Amino acid sequence: MGAAAGGSAGDRSSSAGSNRGAHRGALDRSLPTARRGILYGGDWNPEQWGPEVWDEDIALMRRAQVNLVTVGVFSWALLEPAPGVHSWAWLDDVLDRLARAGIAADLATATASPPAWLSRAHPEMLPVTREGATLWPGARQHYCPSSPVYREAALTLVEALARRYGDHPALEMWHVGNEYGCHVAACYCDVSAARFRAWLADRYGDVAALNQAWGTAFWSQAYHSFDEILPPRLAPTLSNPTQVLDFARFSSDELLGCYLAERQVLESLTPTVPVTTNFMGLFRPVDYWRFAPHVDIVADDSYPDPADPLAYVRAAMVGDLMRSLGDGAPWMLMEQAPSAVNWRPRNARKPPGMMRSLSLQAVGRGADGICFFQWRAARAGAEKFHSAMVPHAGAASRTFEEVTALGEELGRLREVVGTSVDASVAILLDWSSWWALEQPSHPDSTLELRAILESWYEPLYRSHVPVDFVSPAGPLGRYRVLLAPNLYLVAAEHAKRLADFVATGGTLVVGPFSGIVDQDDHVPAGPYPAAFREVLGLEVEELAPLADGEVVALTGPLAGSAGSASGWQEVIHLRGAEVLARYATGPLVGMPAVTTRSWGTGQALYVGCGLDAPTLEAVLARAWQGAGVRPLAEAPGSVGVSRRGRFCFYVNTDAAPVEVELAGSPTLVTGGELEEAAGGRVVLRLPGHGAAVVDAGGGEQS
Ligand code: GAL
Ligand code: ZN
Repeated sequence: MGAAAGGSAGDRSSSAGSNRGAHRGALDRSLPTARRGILYGGDWNPEQWGPEVWDEDIALMRRAQVNLVTVGVFSWALLEPAPGVHSWAWLDDVLDRLARAGIAADLATATASPPAWLSRAHPEMLPVTREGATLWPGARQHYCPSSPVYREAALTLVEALARRYGDHPALEMWHVGNEYGCHVAACYCDVSAARFRAWLADRYGDVAALNQAWGTAFWSQAYHSFDEILPPRLAPTLSNPTQVLDFARFSSDELLGCYLAERQVLESLTPTVPVTTNFMGLFRPVDYWRFAPHVDIVADDSYPDPADPLAYVRAAMVGDLMRSLGDGAPWMLMEQAPSAVNWRPRNARKPPGMMRSLSLQAVGRGADGICFFQWRAARAGAEKFHSAMVPHAGAASRTFEEVTALGEELGRLREVVGTSVDASVAILLDWSSWWALEQPSHPDSTLELRAILESWYEPLYRSHVPVDFVSPAGPLGRYRVLLAPNLYLVAAEHAKRLADFVATGGTLVVGPFSGIVDQDDHVPAGPYPAAFREVLGLEVEELAPLADGEVVALTGPLAGSAGSASGWQEVIHLRGAEVLARYATGPLVGMPAVTTRSWGTGQALYVGCGLDAPTLEAVLARAWQGAGVRPLAEAPGSVGVSRRGRFCFYVNTDAAPVEVELAGSPTLVTGGELEEAAGGRVVLRLPGHGAAVVDAGGGEQS
């Protein structure tokens, strides 16, 4: 929620979770979940079919207990065949049918794929790549986010849609655009260049301040007027890193601007209808901390690879992020594949049970809606081999049976709606830092934030410790433990908030190559890491990545005899910190690798190398255990556990069956088998890819 959510290290005493997402409850735009329970459905593209199929669609939707469909996402060219000429008949019919069937419409504004007539008349609205290539129509998303032509045409359509359907009984939510930035995350055209210059003038005021921030004394890059500045187009060699960083900030703002322009039209014409768009998980091009305050419910599209052994862990991490983006309020899974996708080189199907378990896992991590792309498998077009709730094989299929069973099951979970998840541990995430980190010409230019985040998240998932994400500008005081797997770039005021967090009793764990540069991507004076030197109690004299394949041994209280590091090393000098692990072999033998320091009433730990997974797990366990955080369950690491109010969710991420011993006197809500074993123990049995929801009772945290 960025700065808007406020909060400081001083508010740690307030009971965690008590008023999370509260501002969303104050909406007069009430969400369909209030009436309908868990939302269940998918993208319905009736324009690809005729009315004969619509009858069958609606009958099958009712059978599957679908209560919401997203309609018209890619229908601009059919809704507006010529400028200002509308063809509503088919959509009138479709929405009337939905209303009669009692199914809500999440009506799309249809602006993600402009009609051919628009770019024919105004080719300057087409996007241009960094290399200077124009992206032509014939696929989708062929628009420059800065184009006034595109924005005006989009708003004209949005206004016409809102006027026509604002009072339609089926309309319960607006779906603006689609996946902002999915194919075109940034545009380098002349129109975008002019908007970039205006954005820079606004940020810096005068060109001298820009020269300072961009460090343009280097390589003769000084500008004497804003008019000289371009986007970081294809250049002979490395572009100015701050120019690249600011262009990423600008491009994210431009996509948000497209969304906000549509939202404004909808808010003024249909003030009681909630508005959202679909996010794409951990998506680098768009700063979702800035975006999320402007959606009435955070919605996400999630396509884990069924063949990936970490599919559940990765999906859970993104679910936790979505909940956090909404300040803890329920979110919705707007799109997932019922089985296979079509866009990987080879597309594994979801084995029986996996679609259900991933869905229940999302609910367990805060989702109040489970939807799919798409309702009926297409016969034509680039997505005809993408799975659908009604596959090519028809309703007499495993997929549709699983879809129907899940609809029935979610219908029984109504009481879960609106409950929250409590986490005392949060992972720090900052988009500017991400944009600055993943640039060339660094000591190690292969560092990828997503992989780093996953390597820190996985041990917490397997230890059943609930985790939120938080912006360095966000409500840090809610948490006992903050993890910064990587924060390469840290603004001075954020460094201060993190130091205050530790000083007032928090535990902070910082990963390698963090606190290195300021908000302009400049290295501050003195040894690394300027932002964290004091709180960590150390100085880094040199950054010293290891060669590919080089592994060095660790020793010390944490590492035992098996610990090792690879990829990254630093020359660390202690200035108050104590050693938790040091190098036992390699070029830095004897020097500190992992440290800890008491600071104020808190603790600050530093991981100064690329730790092997068990040692990283030990560092993290030391942090959360030391802070008094208790895991949700004593369960095998292959079981994902989460809790919403009194409901506990258990997901078997493995193909083999598993048993989990439960505490207290739980009752089964759905899935699995509960059995009383010897000694009054209660055992939950889950089949491979199985999942269960258990009512832990006890009136705890609702
Ligand atoms: C999403 C998109 C959908 C569909 C889906 C296929 O990116 O929003 O329209 O293309 O992927 O997996
Ligand atoms: Zn452009």
